[in-house]
Parts: sequence; C-alpha cells; structure tokens
Amino acid sequence: MIVTAPSQDQSKNGLRPINLNTDIPGILRLLELVFGASLRAEGRPIIASNELAAQSPAILWRLSPAAAKLSLGFVWEADGRIVGNVTVLTTELPGRYLVVNVAVHPDHRRQGIARLLMQQVENLVRQRGGHQILLQVVKQNSAAVELYNSLNYTTIGSMTNWATSVSRLRRLELNVESVRPPIRELKRQEWRAAYALDCQVLDADLQWPEPLKSDVYKTGFWPRVVNFLNGRQAETWVMHDEASRQLAGLARIESEWGRSHQLTLRVHPTWQGRLERPLLAKLIRRLQSMSRRNVQIDHPDNDELVNALLQEANFQPRRTLTHMRLDLTR
Ligand SMILES: CC(C)(COP(=O)(O)OP(=O)(O)OC[C@H]1O[C@@H](n2cnc3c(N)ncnc32)[C@H](O)[C@@H]1OP(=O)(O)O)[C@@H](O)C(=O)NCCC(=O)NCCS
Repeated sequence: MIVTAPSQDQSKNGLRPINLNTDIPGILRLLELVFGASLRAEGRPIIASNELAAQSPAILWRLSPAAAKLSLGFVWEADGRIVGNVTVLTTELPGRYLVVNVAVHPDHRRQGIARLLMQQVENLVRQRGGHQILLQVVKQNSAAVELYNSLNYTTIGSMTNWATSVSRLRRLELNVESVRPPIRELKRQEWRAAYALDCQVLDADLQWPEPLKSDVYKTGFWPRVVNFLNGRQAETWVMHDEASRQLAGLARIESEWGRSHQLTLRVHPTWQGRLERPLLAKLIRRLQSMSRRNVQIDHPDNDELVNALLQEANFQPRRTLTHMRLDLTR
C-alpha cells in the first residue's frame, strides 16, 4: 500500500485564518511591499508597521492593541511566506463588518487568491450572522474595483479628501453678512435637526469607519466640558429656512489638539447650489481666526460646485475613495 501525505511545504500552502502568534511579521512585510510609503503617509493600511515592528518578539505583538486589529481575517501562504492577506474589522453596529488590507504579492496576482480571500470573508461574516460588509477602495484602482464588482459589491459613492493649511486658505468672494437666510450658530435644541440633515444628505455608509453618531451635533454645557477635557472643540454654523422651518444647510469645524481642523458641509437638496458658497466662506473666515494648522474636508466627489469652491479656496484634492457594500440579507 502506498501512503501519500502532504509534504510540510505543501501543508503551508493556501488559505487559512490569520494566526496572531506567527503571522504578523509576514503580514506587515506584505502590506509594506504592496501599499508602500504613500498609503502609510495617509494612515493606511489599518496599522502602521512602526506600531508592530516586524522584528519584535511574538509576545509584544500579542500584547499590542494594534495586533487586535489584525486578528480577524485570512492569509494566503505560499512556501512558508505570506503572499495574500485580508483583514476583517467589526464595528459598533452589530452585523456590520469592514474589510481592509486586501493585498496579494505582485508575483502571485491573477491566480484567484484575492477572490478566494474575499469569498472566505463573506462566509465568515455570514457564519457570524452579519448582514453587511463595507470597504473603501481608491477610485482609480480598477483591479480592485473589478474584483469587488465581480463579487457583487455595489458602489455607494466616492468621497474626496481635500487638504490645505489655515495659512494657505483663500477667502471666497462674498459678503457673508448679507446672505439670506442669515448664517448663525446652531442652537442647542437643534442638534437633532442637524443630525437629520446630515443623514439626509450623506449616505450613512459614506461615513468611515463608523456611521455618524446621533449626538454628534449636541451642544450645551456638558458636551463642551467633555470636548474641553479631550482637547476637542467644535462649532456648527447653519442657515435656517423660516418658511419651511427647517435647516437648509450646515457647516462645521471640528478641531482636536495636534490634529487637522476637520470640516463638514451639508446642504439640503432643495437648497443645493445656493448655500455652499456662503457656508464655506463662513468656515474660511472662522478658520482664519483659529490656530494655524492643516485643514481637511471629506466631500462627495460628484459635488462639482463644492469641488470648484474648494479649489478656489486653495484646497488640494489628496485622494478619492469609493465606498462599496455587500448586503448579505439574501
Ligand atoms: C487587487 C488585488 C488584491 C487583486 O488580487 P489578485 O489575487 O490578483 O486577484 P484575483 O486573481 O483573485 O482576481 C479576481 C478578479 O479581480 C479582477 N482583477 C484582479 N486584478 C485585475 C487587474 N489587474 N485588472 C483588472 N481586473 C483585475 C478580475 O475581475 C479578476 O477576475 P479574473 O481573473 O477572472 O478576470 C491585487 O492586485 C493587489 O494586491 N493590488 C494592490 C493592493 C490593492 O490595491 N488592494 C486593494 C485595496 S482596496
């Protein structure tokens, strides 16, 4: 009788769940090779290699909070080397999962590895009773977009990240004081209306990694105290339509110690095209009286008016990410 057993090398080939005890250095090497310096500079992939030095002893990877982010997912191993990876993240909403760090070594591409890794993710999420998988992909990355389309992911929309600094900002031509409806600060009792406007204008799944928190526009004494203790500050400016008694538009600046000022601009559909300039002009005036930091805004890439206004104000587009979703309700 001839007994055949897989050789040790063969047993190491193929797809398997991530093993935190052994895989982190290999995954980091792969992510470094595939995503390189440009994405690291943008805070992607999900962990930076300096958080988990590939040479650190295993016990240190296990203890690192960054390692926990890699713990759910799959790798593809070939001859003892990790040549494919996908990481799954849970979110605060039960049943909602994110996929990040999809990477295949250049020498092993177009062999179906990414497809199998992604199919395994779908199985995992189904087994856990999940109903939705979300991911972000650079809009121009046609290989990855093709991959996700072929696996029935649908496009939700694309968000462009724009950046500049307070000192480089250019004012928009406009007399902010004479615009109608007038721009004023969000009133304390209007936080629900502001949240509703935001949700109406922007699909919840275009917020990443978590959907907008319902109390994000809450103001008043305690939210201010909590913000102060966390080195944060936020102000929201609105245009209120007296006739319909609803918020027609809002603009917000969030500042956190040591980070860029983060802007938000939302205009109700019936007012689109008319309020963007005054609201952005107001934000720029406010920013010019604030600390001289970088400024960022993430905004839907198909909003051509705002794109033009941001360029006029001297923002530069940094990258556009397409958000895709797989619904597992069927
Ligand atoms: C995108 C990537 C993960 C694909 O990995 P892969 O193992 O080569 O993909 P697969 O062989 O499983 O291909 C599955 C499908 O994806 C699409 N695809 C993959 N590479 C493609 C390419 N270069 N051009 C067009 N379509 C491509 C095809 O639809 C393909 O099906 P097909 O081979 O039957 O035509 C890989 O190219 C990669 O690591 N790129 C750099 C990192 C990256 O962009 N990650 C995605 C971040 S969101």
